[in-house]
Amino acid sequence: MEIVAGPQRIDALAGVVERAFAPEGVPEAARVARLLRELAATPPKDLLVLSGWAEGAAVAVTAWSRLQGAGAATWILSPVAVAPDRQRSGLGTRLIEAGIARLRGAGADLLAVYGDPAYYGRFGFDAAHAPPAPHPLGMPFGWQGLPLVPGAALAGPVRPVPALDDPALW
Ligand SMILES: CC(C)(COP(=O)(O)OP(=O)(O)OC[C@H]1O[C@@H](n2cnc3c(N)ncnc32)[C@H](O)[C@@H]1OP(=O)(O)O)[C@@H](O)C(=O)NCCC(=O)NCCS
Repeated sequence: MEIVAGPQRIDALAGVVERAFAPEGVPEAARVARLLRELAATPPKDLLVLSGWAEGAAVAVTAWSRLQGAGAATWILSPVAVAPDRQRSGLGTRLIEAGIARLRGAGADLLAVYGDPAYYGRFGFDAAHAPPAPHPLGMPFGWQGLPLVPGAALAGPVRPVPALDDPALW
């Protein structure tokens, strides 16, 4: 898998999201694909899209965006999607680890994710290090943080990029 940075070829990347989330239903798959398209309009300084390509086809995608607040330079990972026929072969892990390494190199202090602790815990995310959430959480156990610098903390109020600034996503 070749890793490509940037939101180019967004139709192919949104297609990966739609297929990955299809088991959760058409509305959910469409909602997450729309989120990725909206994220693609984020200013480049506040966005890191990493996608995985094999034989000219998109097979995986991750997006990181800035969470503004007081203190730690903080980025959120959302969404993460791997094409159904490529899942459980390490592609998601490779993309997420590549994103963490890039953001660490770019001076990020704290990372956040809203998802299954059983999956994201393997990267070091946990609820104890989560920053304040930008909106009330429907699944508080899924809101997790990963400090890249000891003691990194973000004080509220916090604000995500516009694509994620929708209470219905939280
Ligand atoms: C979740 C997802 C991103 C993981 O990517 P992946 O490339 O398939 O996962 P990796 O190969 O890196 O890691 C595999 C490990 O992660 C865990 N894992 C993977 N998919 C999982 C799932 N759907 N539920 C729970 N654990 C999962 C398992 O422990 C697995 O290890 P195993 O195969 O030894 O049991 C991918 O399966 C996906 O796109 N799923 C649909 C969309 C989605 O749920 N996205 C995340 C939203 S928070």
